[in-house]
Amino acid sequence: MIQLLAPEVADGIAAGEVIERPASVVKELVENALDAGASRISIDVRGAGKTSIRVSDDGAGIPGEELAIAFVRHTTSKLSALADLAAIRSFGFRGEALASIAAVADVECSSGGARLRIRAGEILEHGPGPLLPGVVIEVRDLFANVPARLKFLKSDATEVSAIKDVVSAFALLHPHIRFHMTIDSRAAVTSSGDGDRRRAVASVYGQPVAAEMLEMAGTPLQPLLVAGLVSQPRLSRGSRDGMVLAVNGRPVSARSLVYALEECYQGRLERGRHPIAVIDIGIDPELVDVNVHPAKKEVRFRDEGAIFAALQRAVRAALDGSDPFRYRPGEAVGPAMLEAGTRPQLMVHDAPAALAAPAATNGHTATGVLRPIGQAGSGYLVAEGPHGLVLVDQHAAHERVLYNRLLERLRAGRGASQPLLIPQAVDLDPALIAAAADHREELASLGLEFEEFGPRSLRIVAVPAELPSGRATAAIQETLAALAENRGDGAIEKAAAALACHSAVKFGDVLDIVEQRRLLADLETAEESITCPHGRPTRLLVEWQELTRHFRRNY
Ligand SMILES: Nc1ncnc2c1ncn2[C@@H]1O[C@H](COP(=O)(O)OP(=O)(O)OP(=O)(O)O)[C@@H](O)[C@H]1O
Ligand SMILES: [Mg+2]
Repeated sequence: MIQLLAPEVADGIAAGEVIERPASVVKELVENALDAGASRISIDVRGAGKTSIRVSDDGAGIPGEELAIAFVRHTTSKLSALADLAAIRSFGFRGEALASIAAVADVECSSGGARLRIRAGEILEHGPGPLLPGVVIEVRDLFANVPARLKFLKSDATEVSAIKDVVSAFALLHPHIRFHMTIDSRAAVTSSGDGDRRRAVASVYGQPVAAEMLEMAGTPLQPLLVAGLVSQPRLSRGSRDGMVLAVNGRPVSARSLVYALEECYQGRLERGRHPIAVIDIGIDPELVDVNVHPAKKEVRFRDEGAIFAALQRAVRAALDGSDPFRYRPGEAVGPAMLEAGTRPQLMVHDAPAALAAPAATNGHTATGVLRPIGQAGSGYLVAEGPHGLVLVDQHAAHERVLYNRLLERLRAGRGASQPLLIPQAVDLDPALIAAAADHREELASLGLEFEEFGPRSLRIVAVPAELPSGRATAAIQETLAALAENRGDGAIEKAAAALACHSAVKFGDVLDIVEQRRLLADLETAEESITCPHGRPTRLLVEWQELTRHFRRNY
């Protein structure tokens, strides 16, 4: 039953602007339909939402005799006592949306055999209406009576794209609900509502993107359940607008969660590239406060650290199943390939059983399966693998192998160093000397040992086992510079990456077949081996299918 909230409950609700733009109307009306248990939601938008927004659903509907009260401020059927605010289980709880919309538009709403027309907060008509399932509500002439607000709207194209983002996010997060949106009579978002998240991704971003997404297992990490899909590193975007993060199905903007997500891609994506993701964090409503922002865009977690960690665990586990970059003729190959929706359909084939990799452990390809063929160009290794021909950037590959090894030594707190017969003095900036002193133990784990030797130099007594001695000075300079530049989180990893880069074989180095075989074997067993620590690809797979297709051997 829709009731007026007691004043102390109404006062407990985050106050502020509810309806800022056409997209806010769409969001509120869709949320009401979701709360009513709808399985189909149709949205028709005209004139960028300023002419009309019409939403119909097949949910529980509003009883005819309650239709008018639904439009009164602070009336809601979703909570009654102040205590309910501590565990909100519905999208709505303020009893404000319909009243706020009706205050700035001309609204016609039919439900439960009744029909109501209300403009600028005044009831114009109220009487019997058609008998329909659910609710049909149409909002016309938005902001016609508040010209100042109208003036602040962005271009029609921007307002339309904001509306599309709202509906797309709900379609992605609620795959079991069928969404259909038209914009000026043209279909803009259509989801099947069959419950399949990957299909929902296909309906929003296209099939090629959907095929590249990795599913998060969705295993409950008490008291949390992180569900959704994240893009594998070979699919990425130049902007952050492919990330939909949600809490209990409610899209939220949470900078900390975006950060947590992107951190999982560090070393897998190049700088400036961002993943595509749909992540829904299911959590006991008592552990999250959604009543902090008037438009409910932000939430506050009781234990943000736990959410952060659970999200990262789920994303990292999914990323373990990442596939190498593939050669696709006619496409720009690289992390930028497959920009959402703009590429032709991607064909995915299952490898024939005989060629499939032997039982893979935790998503990695099994070991020792790359057979070296030789070196090509100035620094590519050519190899044969179970799925096709593999081209390897020898420097990037070695960098990844060494980087992982260095991180392992850091974790173990035990370095593998080669003592220098004659300690070597290196002149350094005082800032670098300070950085070295601050990280003495970690550097020792990386294999770098030194003594202070006056205010402007260090005496190096041991270097990592893999570092060619001729490169020691430059390597030390850059490693310490990475430490000094990246104070705090991730600094030592950056330093390890610099050290790996200097220790790795160069692009032009000649490798004999034994060295090639060793590098390929090491790469195969390395974690996150698809990219170097800077996010560049280590290898390119030319699949057998691709060759079969090209040479027309499939006829
Ligand atoms: N599509 C709908 N189907 C069924 N009931 C609805 C629908 N839309 C609104 N209602 C009813 O009207 C009431 C008022 O809706 P309104 O959106 O104004 O408030 P709310 O959803 O309770 O809270 P909030 O302001 O946070 O959205 C709801 O509590 C609900 O009972
Ligand atoms: Mg509502």
